[in-house]
Amino acid sequence: MGSSLFRTKNVEQSIRDTEEPEHALKKSLSALDLTVFGVGVIIGTGIFVLTGQVAKNNAGPAVALAFVAAGVVCALAALCYAEFASTVPVAGSAYTFSYASLGELPAWIIGWDLVLEFALGTAVVAVGWSGYMRSLLDNAGWHLPGYLSGRDGAHGFGFDILAALLVLVLTAILVLGMKLSARITSLVVAIKVAVVLIVIIAGAFFVQSRNYHPFVPPAQPVPAGASLKAPLVQLMFGWAPANFGVMGIFTAASVVFFAFIGFDIVATAAEETRNPQRDVPRGILGSLIICTVLYVAVSVVVTGMQNYTQLSVDAPLADAFKSIGHPWYAGVISFGAAIGLTTVCLILLLGQTRVFFAMSRDGLLPRFFSRVHPRFRTPHRPTILLGVIIAIVAGFTSLSELAELVNIGTLFAFVVVAISVIILRKTRPDLPRAFRTPWVPVVPIVSVCATLWLMLNLPAETWLRFAIWMVIGFAVYFLYGRSHSRLAHPEQPSEPEPAPPIS
Ligand code: ALA
Repeated sequence: MGSSLFRTKNVEQSIRDTEEPEHALKKSLSALDLTVFGVGVIIGTGIFVLTGQVAKNNAGPAVALAFVAAGVVCALAALCYAEFASTVPVAGSAYTFSYASLGELPAWIIGWDLVLEFALGTAVVAVGWSGYMRSLLDNAGWHLPGYLSGRDGAHGFGFDILAALLVLVLTAILVLGMKLSARITSLVVAIKVAVVLIVIIAGAFFVQSRNYHPFVPPAQPVPAGASLKAPLVQLMFGWAPANFGVMGIFTAASVVFFAFIGFDIVATAAEETRNPQRDVPRGILGSLIICTVLYVAVSVVVTGMQNYTQLSVDAPLADAFKSIGHPWYAGVISFGAAIGLTTVCLILLLGQTRVFFAMSRDGLLPRFFSRVHPRFRTPHRPTILLGVIIAIVAGFTSLSELAELVNIGTLFAFVVVAISVIILRKTRPDLPRAFRTPWVPVVPIVSVCATLWLMLNLPAETWLRFAIWMVIGFAVYFLYGRSHSRLAHPEQPSEPEPAPPIS
């Protein structure tokens, strides 16, 4: 039993699987497509919304340092991701990497965890998008009724109709094919980056140095009775829970980490890349560097334009311009944010369906889901199933706490990937690696420690929710995945059912 839990899928087999025609995705992406993909998903709710929240509640102007801290953690993880993605270029990201190195149970755990990350991430961003859209509609004089504006705005029944519709439309685009979605993505990413640059360049003229004092506001105790909301590290060491101060920067980093989520999805698209060995590492590191520079610049400018205590928590970038009497800029920024969040949703949804697809191809989830569409060559079944579920979640859920749950899931994936790099170097030193993580095992070990540190700065209740999700995952694996795994049935024909006709 013990050995079956840690049976590994060898790397050659992973790559061979992608060559079965029924289960093969179209290889159409280049390094530039991947970078655009990365930037498209990375810049989103994190910078457009969370910057203001954490500056106001946790870190003050030092939110810029929180972005640096989160960016460093991501860069370390990216170095590990890049080695794995260039060695095991098949769909599924950290899931596939850990299947090839750690074994089936760890791979299941990580796949289950990525489903949580991407699905809830999509829902979080869809609701953020809907907020910006409503603000634009309000400007045009159209007001949605409260019960269609989401749970937060409603008394009693509330359904965020815009968020749900967005997810459904994006699902249809993904079913129609990668290339179509990549083209739309490029256009939207250009608009989004332009808007971020407008914030930085135009905003720089309105910075007042007095807003930077104090740059790191002194620590303030949080009200008693909210202990589950305190960062786990403060509870573990019996520290009095506090905001601001040096610890506040780390609390802020564990939240704004959400702003970096997405670079790992570039690795998820490895299987659809023309030359994954060269292009995936370039795509991952390129998009991460671009975004880190933009984030630090935006947060320095915005906290310089408006005192952190005055920043808005809904649309801080736009409202900072309103506060200095430039509503025209604010309108443009809101418009760009609404457009930009669309690509974030799209790519998170894409990553989500690809992980599900990979798990199903391996038999850990029903194989029904891994048959690609005969004409569009896309995994239409998991795309439609998950799209509908996410649309419902986005419609009904209030999401600020879910963002923290997304973060813990992603950080956990980073830990597994970093450990996997070390293990695979030992177990398969022979594999060609187009990109090698420098200074192994030092970089992966530092990556694990830095990632764990951010995780410990998340609230205790987030840890609790994450634990519950993982317990459910164990139940599914032991009741279904373990006995249906393709590794448990090597003799099983790979195509038991005929492909569906084109409808
Ligand atoms: N990084 C993405 C965002 O900030 C998920 O919205």
